[in-house]
Amino acid sequence: MGVKLASGSLSSVKADLAAIVVYQDESLDAALPEGVPGELQGWLESEARRLEFKGKEGESVVVHAHGLKLGVSHVALVGAGKPDGSSLASRRHSARYLGATALKLASRLKVGNAAVFGLGRDNNPLDAEAAQAFTEGVLLSSYRFDKYRTRDVRKNPPPEVHLVAGKPAHKALQAGVDRGTILAEATCYTRDLTNTPAADMKPQDLTAQAKQIAKESGGAITVKVFGNPELKKMGCGLLLSVNLGSPNPAQLIVLEYKPKTAPKGRKGGKTVALVGKGITFDTGGLDLKPPDSMAGMKYDMSGAGAVLGAMKAIAALKPDFHVIGCVSATENCIDGGSIKPSDVMKSYKGLTIENDNTDAEGRLVLADALAYIEKTYKPDAIVDMATLTGACMIALGLTTSGVFSDDDQLAADLIAAGKLADEDHWRLPLNTKLLDAMKSDIADWKNTGNRYGGAIYGALFLRQFVDTVHWAHIDIAGPAKAEKEDGPVLKGGSGHPVRTLLEWLVPPAYRV
Ligand code: BES
Ligand code: MN
Ligand code: ZN
Repeated sequence: MGVKLASGSLSSVKADLAAIVVYQDESLDAALPEGVPGELQGWLESEARRLEFKGKEGESVVVHAHGLKLGVSHVALVGAGKPDGSSLASRRHSARYLGATALKLASRLKVGNAAVFGLGRDNNPLDAEAAQAFTEGVLLSSYRFDKYRTRDVRKNPPPEVHLVAGKPAHKALQAGVDRGTILAEATCYTRDLTNTPAADMKPQDLTAQAKQIAKESGGAITVKVFGNPELKKMGCGLLLSVNLGSPNPAQLIVLEYKPKTAPKGRKGGKTVALVGKGITFDTGGLDLKPPDSMAGMKYDMSGAGAVLGAMKAIAALKPDFHVIGCVSATENCIDGGSIKPSDVMKSYKGLTIENDNTDAEGRLVLADALAYIEKTYKPDAIVDMATLTGACMIALGLTTSGVFSDDDQLAADLIAAGKLADEDHWRLPLNTKLLDAMKSDIADWKNTGNRYGGAIYGALFLRQFVDTVHWAHIDIAGPAKAEKEDGPVLKGGSGHPVRTLLEWLVPPAYRV
């Protein structure tokens, strides 16, 4: 498994499958690399015609190369679509989907490896950016979640992919392959956490994962965990109230990444905090969810999973500033001692909240975490992510996250990073006019508004718990889990928005 750089021509390269990149509506004459025997070109042309292959994204055509004196047994054409050469996001999208197409084709053919020829053209070069995206496409498509299967386990390891390029370019391209590998592995790690059923992903399991990340970071990351007794002393009444219905203690987990060397010029450097909703299962509480709505609720810790995945990558990317990763974790379950609708809770920040609906629990556990992180670390920017509202899915569809922020630059930067990562984001308004509907008759606020603009109520609630304007909330309720396969996105936990966070936080040195 993995992506390796290779060089050579179609006649010299040794691989099971040679995959030749074809851009949409490009003639095969233009697309075929040097060293393609005339006979092979004829076969490819007639197969392409027969199958109406146009070079569209995801398309492919395969022929056997038996009888030809080549080092490969199969030759394929793989479609690269029509990237807009002038847009980095579009070039990367094309390369990423190509990586996915090549990997899936090689898997389907059950070959051990594939060599990919011709990624990049004059107006759309193969550079570190494309190599990174291509690597992400390959590794994200290699993902499997087989740990609960005893039958039908795919025995062959995912194929290895060789990206063929001129030797002089290898050094630059390797930087892209390396970064793509880090980002994809972090995403797959998050997918593992989110795909794991709630029985094996309790709050204490998230703690164990955080500790493991710290251990593997070689001292770059330290971790602190607050359980119920500590949370009680701290006054985290919102997180604890959600935890009342669960036999498993809540966990407020704080990972701290510190650079080895302080940045030059800037005293101490900046601090950025990532905060994730870690509801390891959301039954709704006493305001119980109906069965259809409860079904996907093991994914309700996807924000926490994204924070842990991002921190794992941060340890490898080693930025020169501080990064705090915080996970606010509990189950939202039912018990005789559960919090009841209309009960009043006291938050870490001091505000009192009437529990209007026990199913609006994500905003509660995040509110205490945000207030604690802001007070303790005074970050220059805070981003939280959460599977917070079904309303966000209604508003934006299942593949787009909602971004809320009073900081136009921060919102724009996150959305732009999302474009580079092929993770869709769209800004939604923090319309303060709606706050009226969250007023409680007996406490400072209640935890719900109404169903019109439901995602906004979630965001407005959180905003009461942060003082800085450099805060953004990402509602990932839709994209955290993919309903269907799409290129590098496989069905199930998606790992969204791990790569967005990393593109935003730690852009590569090769980005201009
Ligand atoms: N975890 C859910 C939101 C959710 C729904 C995520 C579907 C993914 C898929 C959240 O805790 C929730 O239940 N929100 C309520 C809020 C309401 C009670 C104000 C919702 O969206 O219905
Ligand atoms: Mn809920
Ligand atoms: Zn929830």
